[in-house]
Amino acid sequence: MSITHEHSPPTSGAATQREREQRVRERSVAKYRERAADYDASCGPTWPIRERAVALLAPRPGERVLDVGCGTGLSIPLLRQRVGEGGAVIGFDHSEAMLAQARARAAAAGWRNVTLLHRAAQDLAAAIDGGPVDAILFHYTHDILRSPTALAHVLACARPGARVAIAGIKYFPWWLAPLNFWVYFKNFGYNGAPGDLTTPWDRIAPRLTHWTWTPTQYGMGYLASGRLASSGA
Ligand SMILES: C[S@@+](CC[C@H](N)C(=O)[O-])C[C@H]1O[C@@H](n2cnc3c(N)ncnc32)[C@H](O)[C@@H]1O
Repeated sequence: MSITHEHSPPTSGAATQREREQRVRERSVAKYRERAADYDASCGPTWPIRERAVALLAPRPGERVLDVGCGTGLSIPLLRQRVGEGGAVIGFDHSEAMLAQARARAAAAGWRNVTLLHRAAQDLAAAIDGGPVDAILFHYTHDILRSPTALAHVLACARPGARVAIAGIKYFPWWLAPLNFWVYFKNFGYNGAPGDLTTPWDRIAPRLTHWTWTPTQYGMGYLASGRLASSGA
């Protein structure tokens, strides 16, 4: 797995982008240090979306699935149920506080086919052993979807044709625009870069074939899916 642009000579633009991404990550890690303890309790209302996202991804028995920004590991039981003991679930997150809960969940359940990595998406590609993954779940991972470096790394971990499913928050349509102040502040609590909510998928969509999306939650959420066109950066 190679991320070609990482080897290009640094330019001031690239350095600025790296610094910006670093600041976004620092804000995110700090937020989840505070949020981790109550995170699971806050996810009840979006549980049906999580189930729909996993159903859309449709992992098959024996497949390797990547759970992007896996947090406390809430999606892992749903993914494991589909891939079975012969498949594998790989979750990664840059928040040690969130990942500690995922590790506790995995240990309590005795899962042997779950790998949990303390890793930034921006530094992921070299960390995945065992070959390219067959499917990728992005469940409420807005910061990662907005980072070109993170996206390049995540997609480099998958085989061409890998299935991708995404669930997340977005702005309401224009006729409900006043409510978007609330959407922004809701997203602010969970992301280092809370804006860019009009078409939050617009950096990943060009990398996918069979692209489709549908609004959820009266328009303040979305579910999307596609297949990776090629695994190159
Ligand atoms: C809203 S939570 C979603 C967690 C999980 N996907 C879920 O659905 O419950 C976003 C997660 O993404 C992680 N995250 C954000 N930016 C990241 C990055 N650049 N690299 C790795 N993890 C990141 C956060 O630490 C957090 O755990």
